[in-house]
Amino acid sequence: MNNAIGIFDSGLGGLTVLRELQAMMPHEHFVYVADSKYAPYGNKDSEMVLQRSLLIAETLIQTQNIQSLVVACNTATAAAVHQLRKTLYIPVIGMEPALKPAVERSKSGIVGILATENTLQSDKFSNLLDAHQHKARILTQPCAGLVEAIEQGELHSRKTKDLLASYVLPLVDEGVDTLVLGCTHYPWFESMIRELVGDDVTIISTGKAVARQVQKQVELNSESAKGHVSFYTTGDAGQVSQLAGLLLQSNIVFQSFSPQHSEP
Ligand code: DGL
Repeated sequence: MNNAIGIFDSGLGGLTVLRELQAMMPHEHFVYVADSKYAPYGNKDSEMVLQRSLLIAETLIQTQNIQSLVVACNTATAAAVHQLRKTLYIPVIGMEPALKPAVERSKSGIVGILATENTLQSDKFSNLLDAHQHKARILTQPCAGLVEAIEQGELHSRKTKDLLASYVLPLVDEGVDTLVLGCTHYPWFESMIRELVGDDVTIISTGKAVARQVQKQVELNSESAKGHVSFYTTGDAGQVSQLAGLLLQSNIVFQSFSPQHSEP
């Protein structure tokens, strides 16, 4: 049996990436970590996000013997992927807002991107913007509060709907015809966003593209049986299981995870 692929996020956003990974690689085993105790990452000090990412990765390697790591979080990728790749000896695959396909697809030449404050302020994002902003007008929208809505089980509340509308509708008014979901939590809002923007706006997320990258970079399992997933959280396992069950419409059991530095 090949070792599992590790995957982590600040919380339940990475499940939108996990479902793409499982669809593309049904025989692989995965270990998913939600750092729920520290969510959201999007408005925290990026040094803290870096330290959490290193600690979780190190613990996954030591306790789960993972063969590769998917950073299923745009914010953690921006803060930590460089350092993770420098420190770890396994393949590390990160997320990046899908600006390139968005710019290529846009007919109006106006593209919107929804992401966390930290992602939009990162050097990594500013390099991405530099590479594409001569090809389209790119409107960035930080979305404070959306990750919390998912982590607190308020996906469909009035407050969440109003918040989402306040972020998305001004972009549509500006003429955006392509909208990038630059945070792995946001695909959970996709049908609500679709209702707001109508059928003429293309919505792009990164899960499938990342799954293709993982498929290229990891050593795939030769087993024919369906792979399994172990779910861990640094938060309240019962509460996180319940929320994940609602999102995935199935019975999911998270176990507690306490990342720790190894003894020197
Ligand atoms: N899902 C994450 C991302 O893709 C993290 C969001 C957060 O914790 O603020 O950015």
